[in-house]
Amino acid sequence: MTNRICELLDIDYPVLQGGMTWVSDAGLAAAVSDGGGLGIIGAGAMPAEMLRDEIARARGLTSHPFGVNMIMINPEFEKQLAVVLEEKPPVVTLGAVQNTSVIPDLKEAGIKVIPVVAAVALARRAEKNGADAVVAEGEEAGGHIGGTTTMVLTPLVSRAVDIPVIAAGGIAEDRKSVV
Ligand SMILES: Cc1cc2nc3c(=O)[nH]c(=O)nc-3n(C[C@H](O)[C@H](O)[C@H](O)COP(=O)(O)O)c2cc1C
Repeated sequence: MTNRICELLDIDYPVLQGGMTWVSDAGLAAAVSDGGGLGIIGAGAMPAEMLRDEIARARGLTSHPFGVNMIMINPEFEKQLAVVLEEKPPVVTLGAVQNTSVIPDLKEAGIKVIPVVAAVALARRAEKNGADAVVAEGEEAGGHIGGTTTMVLTPLVSRAVDIPVIAAGGIAEDRKSVV
């Protein structure tokens, strides 16, 4: 299977593992990337030097692209950003996006940037500032997100921007895997 997301991120399946604070470490991210999706280290409230170590660990565990998720309202954000600009993980996703002015610096470092957005206006601003794609995340995801549902938000964002849109928030299936 291939589409714009697979081509952009150099992955086999257009599936991104959500960055999860203190849950998605380098081990999980590398496993997902090895499986053909995009694994993402949740930087969360990690001290910046711990993030540097996690990025190095992911590089040791997988030869596939992976990402780092940073939450912009986190007090560690500026220090984490400095580490990310030095270590240059292939992809950065941004949560709790306060502004999009950080995107050009990340792009300059050769990093693909994917903000998580809960509103059309923010998606447009992200595209204007150079985002490679956006995650349109509906309120079903919980957390630092807006009040529009995934099924409403995703088509609105898709119509508003030309960059690829990844849908998130409450997407699940209840089939049990049969071994
Ligand atoms: C335990 C947990 C921790 C999360 N931590 C973060 C985070 O640090 N940064 C972020 O942008 N999103 C975070 N999220 C949101 C996920 O990355 C993802 O966008 C969201 O879970 C998608 O919605 P869904 O769980 O309904 O599929 C977290 C989600 C969970 C379940």
